[in-house]
Amino acid sequence: MSSTNVASLRRRENRVDTHALESTVAALLTPGKGILAADESFLTIEKRFDALHIPSTEENRRAYRELLFKTTGLNEFISGVILFDETIRQKSSDGVLMPELLAAQGIVPGIKVDKGTVAFANFPGEKITEGMDGLRERLAEYRKLGARFTKWRAVLSIGKSIPSHSCIEENADTLALFAALSQEAGLVPIVEPEVLMDGSHTLARCEEVTLMTLGCVFGSLLEHQVTLEHMLLKTGMVLSGSKSAEQASVAAVAEATNRCLRRAVPAAVPGIVFLSGGQSDIVATERLNAICAAGAAPWTLSFSFGRALQDAALKTWLGVTANAEAAQAALHHRAKCNSLALLGKFSANSELATSVRSEPVKTTTTSQKTELTAIH
Ligand code: 13P
Repeated sequence: MSSTNVASLRRRENRVDTHALESTVAALLTPGKGILAADESFLTIEKRFDALHIPSTEENRRAYRELLFKTTGLNEFISGVILFDETIRQKSSDGVLMPELLAAQGIVPGIKVDKGTVAFANFPGEKITEGMDGLRERLAEYRKLGARFTKWRAVLSIGKSIPSHSCIEENADTLALFAALSQEAGLVPIVEPEVLMDGSHTLARCEEVTLMTLGCVFGSLLEHQVTLEHMLLKTGMVLSGSKSAEQASVAAVAEATNRCLRRAVPAAVPGIVFLSGGQSDIVATERLNAICAAGAAPWTLSFSFGRALQDAALKTWLGVTANAEAAQAALHHRAKCNSLALLGKFSANSELATSVRSEPVKTTTTSQKTELTAIH
């Protein structure tokens, strides 16, 4: 390597603020805390709102996210929140930018930077993730807006002869490029190759696909010179397919998940955070508890749940201001239960002991649409 090249490499290394990356990783992996995924895209939040007859207006999305982030005591159990592009630019009703609202509570703001999935040409039933165009510039902007970490989600479906090697490789390469660009921008990447639970496959098949996927992802991360110490892996638990007649026990899920992760994830990776992927909230907590209770993992284990943290809160809120406090209590409760699970201390009693759910006072009707769009 010429001396000019060495000098330019040093300049590049100096530009990457490794101290900032290290402190973000440490904050996200604070013992007993996890990440709230509140980064639903327009389509996804609309699906969740539609199911409860809540109109997906900009104001309702803002009010809902504000409600979540203003939950008293959220920072006892939540270390970071993943935001969506719309939310990172929005302000709370009292005029505070959402990332500042979180940072003021010691919660690290993060951002989903992928632009969702599209069909993978020539490979029916498989998907790749878009969002590379202009990513370097978007990352710089997100950092200015207060984000300290990023997330990119790839999805792999299990079916007859899928996932194909081509699909796994394509997604692994994209994830690695995203991670490299994030670190360059001083943002900690959360690399998320999600193996979907949809289908009638066995636990063993999910383990095989997850192992193959993670193996390929870590190969690509190394090829792209991503610093493993400055990233987090977000993965699903190893589960039986949601339509499989034979559902693995909590203990079997924990055993398969731990075995698979130990085989595939280098010890240099500081943390693995689980997505909930459509499991019901209490089941996700039970399984997380069993995985963590096994102990002696080389990485910190935590959660980065979307639905398993939010479902009860959303069903309680229903778009009605008067339900906000009860919805916040539901979120706080789930966050606390999952925090207990990280310590292997969750039990059925934890649900009873800390449960503060109350019935929503109203349900959505057409006549409430005016109120829904006027919530502040
Ligand atoms: P779920 O926990 O609802 O799967 O969402 C997590 C997430 O961030 C998916 O990208």
